[in-house]
Amino acid sequence: MSQADRQRVFIQEVAVRDGFQIEPRFVPTEQKIALIDRLSCSGLAKIEVTSFSSPKAIPMLADAESVMRGIQRVPGVEYAALVPNLRGCERALSCNVDEINLVMSASESHNRANLSMGCDDSLAQFARIVPVAQSAVAQRRVAINASLSTAFGCPFEGVVPQARVLALVRRFVDLGITRVSLCDTTGMANPTQVEQLFYAVLREWPRLQVTAHFHNTRGMGLANAAAALRVGVRHFDASLGGLGGCPFAPGATGNVCTEDLVHMFESMGFDTGVDLSKLLDAAADLSALVGHDVPGQVLKAGPWTRRYPLPESAVARVGAPA
Ligand code: COA
Ligand code: ZN
Repeated sequence: MSQADRQRVFIQEVAVRDGFQIEPRFVPTEQKIALIDRLSCSGLAKIEVTSFSSPKAIPMLADAESVMRGIQRVPGVEYAALVPNLRGCERALSCNVDEINLVMSASESHNRANLSMGCDDSLAQFARIVPVAQSAVAQRRVAINASLSTAFGCPFEGVVPQARVLALVRRFVDLGITRVSLCDTTGMANPTQVEQLFYAVLREWPRLQVTAHFHNTRGMGLANAAAALRVGVRHFDASLGGLGGCPFAPGATGNVCTEDLVHMFESMGFDTGVDLSKLLDAAADLSALVGHDVPGQVLKAGPWTRRYPLPESAVARVGAPA
């Protein structure tokens, strides 16, 4: 397959938001900035830089303004921030973010645990935020994405019906939102469910920019990403080293690992635009930064192209390979 024939997929890095929000140790502001600047040069389509949540709810990202204002903005990379309410939107806009990533849950109980409000209150916040962000859009192109947590299952309620997810996506579309992420907050999704839900969303709203956001909590993250890819999803969130997790979802663990996802898509013949070796270099320094081992696999095993010399004993028995 020639380079030109390869289909493009867009990799969106969330380690510095989804990852650092749940780390037990505060990652110093300058180290966050240094990592983002390094990731900006690796070919990622988007980086979710931080979250303009209440610092009481998410103390690990209390430095949101300093990080957002401190990074270098590389042309071609979108710099997004998570926003739970109008106050967060105003803070994000004051830092010139490229994308406001609104967040609410598909399940009532996780919305209350995460955002201290019901789903209807979150929708009301969205309705107030969208015009504010859109007036900023007119001046300097701010995109609005809505992330729907627990879209594949809720750690409190269990099954979240597909009809409920579709009804919420419809509410977002009706508000004028053009980008939607479906998030598997605690790794409850399976590939069949992923195919069915994304197929239904893309059939109903073919022009919506849809992102798949998977956590690997039960080892199904890459299988779910492959399933989403099969039905036409081309935007994927992922986290360097496989960091990540919602502090308000019991049992939450890391996102699908960015370098593992890039490695999988590239080996399948897709064009991620990402330089895997640069990602692996950044991932290699991550354990020291967060103070613990990280779950990424390709960093440990090397890419599938890695080859080892035949052991001397085998060479002696059968001769050197041709
Ligand atoms: N940024 C900064 N401060 C904020 C804020 C924001 N976006 N929203 C509220 N606050 C402050 C208020 O000013 C108030 O401060 P005070 O106690 O000093 O007066 C305090 O936070 C509580 O405000 P209130 O409106 O009562 O919010 P709440 O306690 O009901 O919390 C949220 C609601 C949405 C602000 C909070 O739950 C939150 O930030 N959640 C985000 C969770 C998240 O990011 N999860 C991970 C991603 S999935
Ligand atoms: Zn997440």
